[in-house]
Formats: sequence, structure tokens, C-alpha cells
Amino acid sequence: MGKNIRIEQIERLNLVLNVIRDVGRLLVSEKDKKKLIKGICDILVEKRGYFNAWIGLFDFEQKIELVADSGFESQSDFNSQFDMIREGLKKQEFTRCIQETLNSDKVFAVMDPVKECHDCILAEDYSDRGGLAVQVTHEGVNYGFMVLSIPRNLAMDETEKTLIKEMADDIAACLYRLDIANSNDVHGFLRVQDKMTSLGRVTAGIAHEIRNPLSGIYIYLKALKKIYNHMGDITRVVSIIDKIELASNKIESIIQRVMDFSKPGQPQFVMTDLNHYIDDVTKLTAVTLRKNGIQLIKDFDPDIPECYAEPHLIEQVILNLITNASEAMEEFPGEKRIELSTFRKGDCIVISVRDTGPGIPVSRQSRIFDPFYTTKANSSGIGLSISHRIIIDHGGTLKFSPSRTGGAIFIIEIPFENKKRIR
Ligand SMILES: Nc1ncnc2c1ncn2[C@@H]1O[C@H](COP(=O)(O)OP(=O)(O)O)[C@@H](O)[C@H]1O
Ligand SMILES: [Mg+2]
Repeated sequence: MGKNIRIEQIERLNLVLNVIRDVGRLLVSEKDKKKLIKGICDILVEKRGYFNAWIGLFDFEQKIELVADSGFESQSDFNSQFDMIREGLKKQEFTRCIQETLNSDKVFAVMDPVKECHDCILAEDYSDRGGLAVQVTHEGVNYGFMVLSIPRNLAMDETEKTLIKEMADDIAACLYRLDIANSNDVHGFLRVQDKMTSLGRVTAGIAHEIRNPLSGIYIYLKALKKIYNHMGDITRVVSIIDKIELASNKIESIIQRVMDFSKPGQPQFVMTDLNHYIDDVTKLTAVTLRKNGIQLIKDFDPDIPECYAEPHLIEQVILNLITNASEAMEEFPGEKRIELSTFRKGDCIVISVRDTGPGIPVSRQSRIFDPFYTTKANSSGIGLSISHRIIIDHGGTLKFSPSRTGGAIFIIEIPFENKKRIR
């Protein structure tokens, strides 16, 4: 007899392990919430042998958003027994087992549905069954619930309850990850939008950078024409053509840089000399700053090590910080100066952007990194939140600090051994 029980236990363990494996596979591969919960219900019914399983998920207002089920038979009045329950859920009518799970993080067990579940249309048919119901919760956020109709002896089994509880936790963790992944889409979209706004602000700089070599080309062409018309010194022609080539390459590289900067898509992290890219940004902002009477002081430590970064995202951050500093000083009396410096501090590269503007009142300091927070009439308020996120994605930090002279300092720290952390 002992042997039989052991075989039974082994068989059951095997079954449970198979279910855990299949559910685990689904949790890592399925990106669609509806397919995910339906797949889990199917596994529980087909592989674990539960009579039926259903999962309901809430939206952010705690209203039922998705429902999936498995194991219900078709009936004449309704397509399946579950359809009445589903209709109720849509109207936020919750059966007792759901109400119990929503009030407790423990697995709720039903031993005798006929006696315990008066409000449930399934109870009558389930007189010989038991049931388990559990919250799907991750870090205090309730994503929904899972209800299972199972053999009565299993409803009392602590191991079975633990399995169900762990599974519900794993489902919730997976839903949390899917939400984060979706919010990354939003983040990507905002990042592109912020880039476009930033580019709009520096068009004067871009035009200026292109106009310089362009007017060079114009002058060289005139010189060539003169040589041709007046049979001038033919030996100068080659050197003039070389200069035209150089100038047109310069224009090409500026256009390429703008294209790279505004290119949407997945960021490409590479070993980067940050000084080089920060300097590129200052070239784009130079004209705008000059027009606004702002002096830009650069103090780059040439010995900072390379770090693993996405150069165009770092450009975007620096552009945001310089633009903010410039906008803050627009109507501010007194000397207008931005100091941009890079240096090494321990195992970090520090980039600081300091201005001589009005600074930020203490009451606002905690909000400036919030998305859409702005004190300007026609601004998006996403610059600092996007910049903060970009630096976090580099394994670093972006912080505000008041300057002793009253202005604002934004300090970026990026560890140069960040490659391992980012992956
Ligand atoms: N250098 C600065 N000096 C003063 N205030 C600043 C500075 N940088 C940012 N701020 C404040 O932080 C807010 C949020 O900045 P940001 O996210 O770039 O959005 P936006 O520039 O669109 O307002 C600004 O509206 C401004 O009030
Ligand atoms: Mg801004």
C-alpha cells in the first residue's frame, strides 16, 4: 500500500512539474495578455486535470478588462456555462469566491459549493467538487483573480494551494513586466517627440553650420570661373577643387549627424568619447546662445575614459539641459552664462551644466523630473523626464543641485564600467 501511495505521489508531482514548466514557458514567451491568461487556463485544465479554470484581469481603474476560461461545456441557452458569469463580471458583479480573494492575499478554498456559494450559478452543478480562488497581485497592485474548479480533496491540500498561489504571483509579475514593456513604447515615442522639439530649437545652429561651408563653395566656384574666363593660373585649380570637396563633405557630415540624431528606432550603445559628442551639441547651440546674449564656457577633461553609451541619446540630454538653461535666463537680468564641464570622479564620468539663471525654488525641485511638468507657457515638460530616463538607462544618475550663486546645476554621473550593468 505504501508503494502505491508513493507511486501516486510521484505521478502527481510529475504532473505538477509539467504544469509549472508549461506555464513558465508561456510566461516568458507570450506578450499578449489575453492569450497569456487563456493559455494558462488551458494548461490547468488539460495538463493538471482541473474541471475548469478562469482568470479575470482589471484595468487601471479596477474594472474588468479581460476574462479567459477553459473547461466549460457548451449548453443550449448559453454557449457555455461560463457566459453568465462573464456577463456578470462585465457589470462588476463578483461571485463570493472573487469577493473573498479580493479581500485577502490567501488562497480561498471552497469545500461545498452548494452550501457555501448561494450566489453562484455554477454551484448547483458542482455539488461534488471543490474550488480555489486567488488574487493575482504584484507589489501591492491587484491585477485580477484566478478561480479553479477542482476535485474536492485537492481543495483541502496545502501543496496544491501553494502551487496556485505561486502561479498567481508569477502571472502577476509577468503582467507587471508586460505593462513596463508597453510603457517603454510610450517612452520611445516621447523620446522621438522630444528629439524633434530639440531639433526645432537648434535649426538656426544647423543652418549656420551648413551656410559656412556653402559660402566657401560659392567663393571657390567664383575663383574657378575667374581662372577659366581669364586663362588664369591653372595650377591653382586642383587645390580649389580639393577645398570644394572638403566643404561639401563637411555639409554631408552635418546632414548625416542631424539624420542620426533624429533617427527613431532602437538605441545603439557603443564605446563613446563623450567629450566629442558634447562638443558637437555646443556647435549646434552656439548660434542660438549667441543671439540670446549667453556666453558658453566649455571645460572638458580630455582624459576622461570612454564609456558605453548611445551617443545621440547623450546629445539629446545635453541639448535639453542647455536649452533649459538658456530658456531660464531669457528674461533674467544680469550676466548670462552656461558652464559645461566634464571630469572624472571615482569610477564615474561627470558632466555638469551650470547656469547663472534664477535657479529652481525648493517647492518645485521635486517635480521637475515629472513627465509633463512645465512652468513655461508653450512647452511640453518632457525634456527632463526623458533625459532622466536616458541617463538611468546608461546606469547613471541625473540630479539637480542649486548653485551657490543662485543658478541651477544639473549633474550627470555615468559609471564608465557600465557595460555589464546595462546588458
Ligand atoms: N536650468 C533651469 N533653470 C530653472 N528652471 C529650470 C531649469 N531647467 C528646468 N527647469 C524647470 O523645470 C521644468 C521642466 O523642464 P523640462 O522637463 O525640460 O520641461 P520644459 O522645458 O518643457 O518646461 C521647467 O519648466 C522649468 O520650470
Ligand atoms: Mg526643457
